[in-house]
Amino acid sequence: MKGVIFNLLESLIVDKFGDEILEEIYAEAHFSADVLPFVGPESYPDSDWFAMATLLSEKINLPVDDLVYELGKYMFPVLADRYPVFLDNLRSPLEFLKSVNDVIHVEVDKLFEQSNPPLIKVEDVNHNKARLRYYSERKLCKLVEGLLDGVADYFGQKISYSHQQCMRDGARECILHLQFS
Ligand code: HEM
Repeated sequence: MKGVIFNLLESLIVDKFGDEILEEIYAEAHFSADVLPFVGPESYPDSDWFAMATLLSEKINLPVDDLVYELGKYMFPVLADRYPVFLDNLRSPLEFLKSVNDVIHVEVDKLFEQSNPPLIKVEDVNHNKARLRYYSERKLCKLVEGLLDGVADYFGQKISYSHQQCMRDGARECILHLQFS
């Protein structure tokens, strides 16, 4: 996983819970050797990211799933602010979401060598409904849910979603039904 995703988790920790918790997490996590500080374009083991998330979840007494969801919601406006070019000329959340797989994550892959972004395929069902397919060995579909709410807030348009099938229940990929108001 790219350092940028570690840095977003670190920012959430500092913004919402303070520097001290982050220092405690650094001290208690059994990271792979010499990973600190996490640098945006570098790749680090997924297990180090999950170690940070799990320790935070224990410290603030919030299930990891809820924490990962909150991170998704928190990180979307940060990404939108950092990479405005990906939102230029896209007027609807559906149009934007369709660009994630074939434009944004492709550009990210060029920008950061050896990235390993997930599959996020969004296909129309009818004029205000779509289907989102998510596949990643990291199984971070709660991050997708948080990001979807972040996208909805950004565009000022509600997106309702329901998980029709989930990798965490053994499905090959997650399928979310999306409805745009
Ligand atoms: C400006 C918008 C966005 C940018 C710049 C961006 C960039 C990135 C980057 C750099 C990574 C790390 C990849 C790696 O570690 O190899 C990532 C991961 C991820 N992205 Fe995006 N992303 C954006 C929007 C979205 C949206 C809207 C979604 C979903 C609706 C999404 C879903 C994910 C997920 C779930 C991951 C975690 C890794 C995984 O599941 O395997 N991203 N993204």
